[in-house]
Amino acid sequence: MTSLQSDGAADVRQIEAQAAPTRFARGWHCLGLTSDLGDGQPHAINAFGGKLVVFRGEDGKINVLDAYCRHMGGDLSDGEVKGNEIACPFHDWRWGGDGRCKQIPYSRRVPKLARTATWPTLDQDGMLFVWNDPEKKAPPAEVTIPHIEGVGSDTWTDWHWYTTVVDINCREIIDNVVDMAHFFYIHGGLPTGFKNVFEGHVATQYYKSDARPDLGKGEGAQILGTTSVASYYGPSFMIDELTYHYQHGDQRTVLLNCHYPIDANSFVLQYGIIVEKSDALPAEAATQMAVALGDFVKMGFEQDVAIWRRKARIDNPLLCEEDGPVYQLRRWYEQFYVDIADVTPDMVNRFEFEIDTARPREAWMKEVEANLAAGRLPKLVGLTK
Ligand code: FES
Ligand SMILES: [Fe+2]
Repeated sequence: MTSLQSDGAADVRQIEAQAAPTRFARGWHCLGLTSDLGDGQPHAINAFGGKLVVFRGEDGKINVLDAYCRHMGGDLSDGEVKGNEIACPFHDWRWGGDGRCKQIPYSRRVPKLARTATWPTLDQDGMLFVWNDPEKKAPPAEVTIPHIEGVGSDTWTDWHWYTTVVDINCREIIDNVVDMAHFFYIHGGLPTGFKNVFEGHVATQYYKSDARPDLGKGEGAQILGTTSVASYYGPSFMIDELTYHYQHGDQRTVLLNCHYPIDANSFVLQYGIIVEKSDALPAEAATQMAVALGDFVKMGFEQDVAIWRRKARIDNPLLCEEDGPVYQLRRWYEQFYVDIADVTPDMVNRFEFEIDTARPREAWMKEVEANLAAGRLPKLVGLTK
């Protein structure tokens, strides 16, 4: 699909965009908090173009199966957990976590081919992951999700977790990894350092910022700046070691940013935050801070979402020198959409790119100073009308 030609001029840049892929990325995808999904009830998850059922059996194991019963298509997520199996609401066929039908209470035998699709699971750091692979291979150990320091320890808070649906293909959220300039225009940050490193299945963004002094008295007003090291481990799960700098000192947090595709044109975005406790920030205060920072982060995501909701899909972004390596990032991301045998070195080789923030900063400080002099707030999408 290309955009409409307004005047037919040969030198007008055309937006190019293929339809979003209907294949879904190979990799670990976080479906949510285990405390929510592992409560012994069946849970429906619309993902990967279909529907899954998540349930914890009496043996404590969490299972993820295709939600549609292979008998007559009943929806297992409306069923009941019986023992270690999920019982279909339609005719009570019992499906085990291995995908096999274990019994049909009204029948002498179970048909030999009674087997349904399953997803390998990982229950780690309070989150439930499923492994999606169109080739149906087992998850390789080297792409497993790393443990997160602090989760479950006394010195950090619990997760403060947010979930929202975004009606656009999930490539948009990945593009954010290299987008330095939007931090100023969308998130009210003043970038002072920005670098990307891609290698293997990991894509990292190193980001340092000062707060914009022209933001007024919002929630972020006392924050002097941030230092962030954010890495995608595979196509959908980012761990961000995010330190907020305050007058009184630094506050360490871990921000999670993850998603799973519902279908080609929508995804579930989830993010969570844990905050380190300290003498200056004992338990109660740390929890309050996790909630306050979580709300602050939520505002940031909503600003991104406001853009994504309206923007066009674009395969050929037109870039300037101070933009990040969008094309290289998309090549890195492509590795998750092809068969393992088709992964090429340019998708996984180490690639580094640092943006010189001096020139942008100069321009942005002028804008900030003009706002301050005029006593006006900057217009940020989703924040100011
Ligand atoms: S459709 Fe599930 S048991 Fe009949
Ligand atoms: Fe963003």
